[in-house]
Amino acid sequence: MERIVITASAEETMALAAELARRLRDGDVVALVGPLGTGKTTFVKGLARGLLIPEEVLSPSFLLARTYRGLKDLHHLDLYRVRSPRELAEVGLDALLPPEAGVTAVEWADRFPHLIPRGAIWVFLEHAGEGRRRITIRR
Ligand SMILES: Nc1ncnc2c1ncn2[C@@H]1O[C@H](COP(=O)(O)OP(=O)(O)OP(=O)(O)O)[C@@H](O)[C@H]1O
Ligand SMILES: [Mg+2]
Repeated sequence: MERIVITASAEETMALAAELARRLRDGDVVALVGPLGTGKTTFVKGLARGLLIPEEVLSPSFLLARTYRGLKDLHHLDLYRVRSPRELAEVGLDALLPPEAGVTAVEWADRFPHLIPRGAIWVFLEHAGEGRRRITIRR
């Protein structure tokens, strides 16, 4: 199943993600792919909104992962700085793929695609002009 949406602002991208978040189940993984600045973190902020997470979602680049508590726990991973799947295993983060409870959103999921479980929801973001993004959601 594939859905393609063009959003015209970060707010629209967050609203799209918030709508998706409402349909997520425990163990779901949202794999985010797209060049720098296309809105992967913005999309995760929208997931957090949909899960009624009050905290502000920040880029987890330095910690590799953060967990936010909401309707469901949201585990946010960023593989940008991860050099090998082993590195993820060493810090115990492979347990979040898939999580037992809650959902996991992974930025730069295409860096280690074999880490992403079958059945993940793939989200591809592309620049589509000033303030616009073409977002493909594939399950
Ligand atoms: N339609 C849109 N959807 C999402 N973000 C948008 C849109 N239009 C403009 N933006 C802006 O683009 C930027 C996206 O930044 P964001 O950190 O979410 O991207 P990213 O893909 O996570 O980047 P990185 O590769 O560094 O992790 C934000 O400043 C946001 O306001
Ligand atoms: Mg980001």
